[in-house]
Amino acid sequence: MKDYAILAKRRLASNVCEYTLYAPLVARHCRAGQFVILRVDDEGERVPFTICDYSRESGTIMLLVQEVGYSTCKLAQLREGDALRDIAGPLGNPTDLDAYKKICLVGGGIGSAVIYPQAKNLHAKGYPADVILGARTADLLIFRQQLEQYASRAYFVTDDGSFGAKGFVTDKLKQLLDGGAGYDCVFAVGPLAMMKAVCDLTAEYGVDTIVSMNSMMVDGTGMCGCCRLTLGDRTVYACIDGPEFDGHLVDFDETIKRNRMYREQESKHFCRLRGEYV
Ligand SMILES: Cc1cc2nc3c(=O)[nH]c(=O)nc-3n(C[C@H](O)[C@H](O)[C@H](O)COP(=O)(O)OP(=O)(O)OC[C@H]3O[C@@H](n4cnc5c(N)ncnc54)[C@H](O)[C@@H]3O)c2cc1C
Ligand code: FES
Repeated sequence: MKDYAILAKRRLASNVCEYTLYAPLVARHCRAGQFVILRVDDEGERVPFTICDYSRESGTIMLLVQEVGYSTCKLAQLREGDALRDIAGPLGNPTDLDAYKKICLVGGGIGSAVIYPQAKNLHAKGYPADVILGARTADLLIFRQQLEQYASRAYFVTDDGSFGAKGFVTDKLKQLLDGGAGYDCVFAVGPLAMMKAVCDLTAEYGVDTIVSMNSMMVDGTGMCGCCRLTLGDRTVYACIDGPEFDGHLVDFDETIKRNRMYREQESKHFCRLRGEYV
């Protein structure tokens, strides 16, 4: 079997695919919370993705990838049987939630890729977490059934009310906190604005909150500085110190500003896939 071959590819939504990749060295060592950095081809940029699931026996890892720009669209053009240029990993630190007993996993959009392995792991350890998953519309609620399978209780919300409650994940979380859910930890992942809103809310209730930071990355080894963020009075690197951090210490405003830094260049980039400026 060729390393980094796509063994299976499944479209889950108009802009999200699930990939099963042959990567035995990664599969042998990875744990929930870690990620890989891959290149689609020789000229590919290095893009990070969470290891959503894995099988040590078959040497495979599974990724959920949302097509948002150049590399993710290029990846989406590959088919089963094609192989990626390379996959580096596992990178980052495995999640450690052992100090907590009543956890709520909160995901926004493709955040399912991160909360699914956590839900599965906590279920296996015998203290399943509650899950809140939110998306703009019903079709973007990725891995709904899989999350239901491992959650203690699963709640779904959509911006337009097309599935579950209408509203944001913070509305449901507030309702549960007010109702005495008794969480000792909230683990949140999704768009930066969503994680910031979750942290603002949990700070009011004094609930420990861990966020998984999806900062832009290049090398993934702490050398380039691309993924740096401010945590309290320290500068940390999402790739080697994270990707998970105490959400109440993250300077979200600075991170949001940094993530927007190249928006103009990205928006004017010449798309060789479409043969036009996009
Ligand atoms: C540790 C980690 C784990 C991740 N896990 C997943 C995952 O499991 N599934 C998944 O679909 N994505 C994941 N991401 C985000 C993914 O890496 C980016 O979406 C991808 O790099 C975008 O590449 P692109 O060339 O297609 O888009 P670009 O052309 O580079 O950018 C397109 C748009 O996406 C935005 N963007 C670029 N990089 C990021 C980013 N890191 N976070 C948020 N927005 C970004 C840009 O600002 C721009 O608006 C993860 C990121 C990190 C750091
Ligand atoms: S990606 Fe380069 S320092 Fe983290």
